[in-house]
Amino acid sequence: MKPAFYITSPIYYPSSTLHIGNAYTTIAADAMARYKRLKGFDVFYLTGTDEHGQKLQRKAEGAGKKPLEYIDPIVDWIKDLWRQLDISYDDFIRTSEERHEEVVQEIFRKLMDQGDIYLGEYEGYYCVECEAFWTPFQAKKGDEYLCPDCGRPVSLVKEESYFFRLSKYQDQLLHYIETHPEFIQPESRRNEMIQNFLKPGLEDLSVSRTSFDWGIPVPGNPNHVIYVWIDALSNYITAIGYGRDEEKFSRYWPADIHLIGKDILRFHTIYWPILLMALGLPLPKRVFGHGWLLMPDGKMSKSKGNAIDPKFLIGRYGSDAIRYYLLREIAFGQDGIFTPEAFIQRCNYDLANDLGNLVSRTLAMIEKYFDGKIPHARQREEGDEKLISLAMATKGKVEDHMEKLLFGQALAEIWALIRQTNRYIDDNAPWALAREEKNHPRLGTVLYHLAESIRIISILIQPFLTKTPAKIWEQLGFRSGEEGLSWEDAGRWGLLPEGQRVYKGEALFPRLDITAEIAAIDEYTAEAKRKAEENKRLQEAREGKEKIELRDGKEPVGKEPRSRMDEEKKATEDKGIEAKKMKKENGLINIDEFAKVELRVAEVIEADRIPGADRLLKLILDLGTEKRQVVSGIAEYYKPEELIGLKLILVANLKPVKLRGVDSYGMILAAKEGDTLKVATLPKEIPNGTLVK
Ligand code: MSP
Repeated sequence: MKPAFYITSPIYYPSSTLHIGNAYTTIAADAMARYKRLKGFDVFYLTGTDEHGQKLQRKAEGAGKKPLEYIDPIVDWIKDLWRQLDISYDDFIRTSEERHEEVVQEIFRKLMDQGDIYLGEYEGYYCVECEAFWTPFQAKKGDEYLCPDCGRPVSLVKEESYFFRLSKYQDQLLHYIETHPEFIQPESRRNEMIQNFLKPGLEDLSVSRTSFDWGIPVPGNPNHVIYVWIDALSNYITAIGYGRDEEKFSRYWPADIHLIGKDILRFHTIYWPILLMALGLPLPKRVFGHGWLLMPDGKMSKSKGNAIDPKFLIGRYGSDAIRYYLLREIAFGQDGIFTPEAFIQRCNYDLANDLGNLVSRTLAMIEKYFDGKIPHARQREEGDEKLISLAMATKGKVEDHMEKLLFGQALAEIWALIRQTNRYIDDNAPWALAREEKNHPRLGTVLYHLAESIRIISILIQPFLTKTPAKIWEQLGFRSGEEGLSWEDAGRWGLLPEGQRVYKGEALFPRLDITAEIAAIDEYTAEAKRKAEENKRLQEAREGKEKIELRDGKEPVGKEPRSRMDEEKKATEDKGIEAKKMKKENGLINIDEFAKVELRVAEVIEADRIPGADRLLKLILDLGTEKRQVVSGIAEYYKPEELIGLKLILVANLKPVKLRGVDSYGMILAAKEGDTLKVATLPKEIPNGTLVK
């Protein structure tokens, strides 16, 4: 029997459609699930939606719908997104399903019966404006109690609530975390949990709400609904049959990995393990809290309108490009910024150039010189060993990184092999070998090695790219199942059958026009921002009306005077704090990061318009030791002749790009405000090439 491997993504709030930040977690979990399946595990990959709570209830009310009427189409949208991204989940749980709700009630009842949940009274300081509850410690400012967010006075509110005795399990959890270093990852987050939450001591947690009713009723007291986080976290066990299907449950529990964003780490590493301890269940083996995907202007948010719809990107660039970019560009565990430039460059350099060209060049040569049949490899030379040994060693390196969830590094290893294979073409110049008949055995060997390396690459990219491997296999002529294509076969050399017919198909990835694509993404985000602002205005107008009603004392019947800190609020607040912290960190870089940018004094010695590109100028710059060609979007602001002799500041270590077909080897600095743009200049006496620091 195959060993079991259980991996989960968070379950998403279907309060609106998802953005690429949410897709990021699911793609990462999918890469892991696919990798483990390839390694021979019986994988169970769970995802789903977290459907209860006040926020969803309000959203539905706002749309004039019942909660499920509002939620169902969004869940369909999410499932369609996962289909488009080839997410290979084994189950999709919705917390509104009976199979979940019933078991959550049983869990709650069990905890009440054993005295871990008790009925008490909640007391907190409530800010009407922010709709948030604060503890006395958070709200006390001198002699007053003020909202830490907006500074307004807060009022003391008391309510009946069920409480969960977190404190009873605190020492047990601390001991567990300290003796299981792999439990919370990355390590920095483990320390954060210990120091910030466990060491200061846990208070009993309020686990029921009476302020809204869209939730699972507390058994025996339907005035209360179960706190959404107890409801949500339990999905990890209800979906695999806890309390219903003992065989399935014991096969997959404890989970191997809960993959989540760092903002929900506390729920997963404090509340969840304590709940499991109270139920007498083993704890998940690993909880990995990854960083956030940010936009250049900070946190991605629907209301800001800076969140990119993954379906827009998939429609334009294909799912493999998105999956590759997210897993490669952002160091897993750390925050990363989505920029259209980096995305398009990854598409062009890594996918179209490195991988796409390697496949098309190799197959074109096999077609041209060997009638499309994989040639014999009879004439190895010493230099071949470098490629062969790297190809065979790459699988092991990828595995090491995957075990640590270092997706970017795993991909970097595969790309090192791809680049080495491309170098092998240049080193052996097959086109030159082809000129003389006597070199044909060597030519065949070189082409065999190239195709064989591509076979290995096509196996290794499978966890990350889901469509490309099959395209490569078709082009390499693999029609008969998996022979030579198993994961283990990526560590073996020489499995590609000689004589196999190859078919050079379409390019795997199109080469994109960088300027046009950046403009298209920018246009899309500008439009999204405009819509978000419009929505915000409408919402504010609606809320204004609501507030007037409140001031008139006409609180709608049946609604509580706003909720106390229901959990979504708490989660939002957590996210708010994180976001503020991030905003601060975001604006700051350390000196090492700055030092990566090489700025040099560059004198303009030639400047010309580029035919057909109204905004671009081609500049030739003197850097002292070399002349550089740079394409710059300043044609609307400068006549070419005005630039001659100016000493500009050049970003000298940028990756080259092609703009409207012209190569550009750097970028000059300029300041732009409205319709004015001025290039940054330095005095004439500074020598060309001087480093600007
Ligand atoms: N419903 C809860 C999770 C319950 S799990 C038992 C929730 N939902 S959420 O929809 O708000 O967020 C789901 C996940 O998306 C979280 O892991 C969160 O960190 C992640 N992300 C939200 N925005 C993100 C980015 N901008 N970048 C990366 N991940 C992001 O929280």
